[in-house]
Amino acid sequence: DKEQAGPGLLQGKKVVVTSGGTIERIDPVRYITNDSSGKMGFAIAEAARAMGADVRLIYGRTDVAPPAGIDTEHVQSAEEMYQAVLKHFPDSDLVIKAAAVADYRPAVAASSKIKKKGDTMTLELVKTVDILETLGKSKTHQFLIGFAAETHDVEAYAKDKLRRKHCDLIVANDVTAEGAGFRSDTNIVQVFDADGLVEKMPVMTKNEVARRLLAIAAERMSEAG
Ligand code: CTP
Ligand code: CA
Repeated sequence: DKEQAGPGLLQGKKVVVTSGGTIERIDPVRYITNDSSGKMGFAIAEAARAMGADVRLIYGRTDVAPPAGIDTEHVQSAEEMYQAVLKHFPDSDLVIKAAAVADYRPAVAASSKIKKKGDTMTLELVKTVDILETLGKSKTHQFLIGFAAETHDVEAYAKDKLRRKHCDLIVANDVTAEGAGFRSDTNIVQVFDADGLVEKMPVMTKNEVARRLLAIAAERMSEAG
C-alpha cells in the first residue's frame, strides 16, 4: 500500500496537516461542531510521512483515531487550532488545511449549564479567525493547500477561496456527491491552482487522494526550488 507513495518525494520537508472539525463551546455540556470525520486529513498525514516528511498533525473532533507514530496535537476550538498552527508555521514547508473549521462560535461560552427558559432561544455567534486566510496573507516560502467543501457551484467557490486565501492549490469536493464527503472512505476531488483546473480525480480512496495530492505538491515545490 505504502509503496506507491513515492518514498522520499517529501524527504526532509516539514509538513503541517490539520484535520477534523472544531468544537465551539456553548456551555460546559454543549457545543457546536460539524460532520468532519478527520479521515482525509489523517490520510494526508500518513501519506506525507510515508513520503519522508517530518509531519505535525493538528486535529480537532474526529470519528476515528489519528494514525500512530506521527507527532500530533489535539485541539478543540478554531482559536486553539489557529494557535497550534501558528507555532509551526514559520519553519514549515507545506501546510495542508483539511480541517473543517467552524466559521462562527458562540459570542460567550457560558461558564455554567444554560437553563431552559422561554419557548425560543437565540444564540449569538461571532466569526472565528480564518486560519487559512491568515496564513495565506503572511506566508513567506510555505506551500499552502486549502480544501473547499461545497454542495453546489463547486468550481466557482473553490477558485474564489484559492484567490482569497492565497493558496497554491485548493482541493474542492462536492460533499453531497455519492462516494465523497465527510464520513466516506472515498472522495471525489478536483484540484485547482491560480490558473485553473490541475486535476480532476475519479472516485478514489482518501489514501489514494492523499498520495496523488502530495505528489502534485512535491513536484511543484521542487520546481520552485
Ligand atoms: N478555514 C480556516 N479557518 C476558518 C474557516 C475555514 O482555515 N475559520 C479553511 C478550511 O480549513 C479549508 C478552507 O479554509 O481549508 C475552506 O474552508 P470552507 O469552509 O470550505 O470555506 P469558507 O471560507 O469557510 O467559506 P464557506 O464555509 O462559506 O463556504
Ligand atoms: Ca466554512
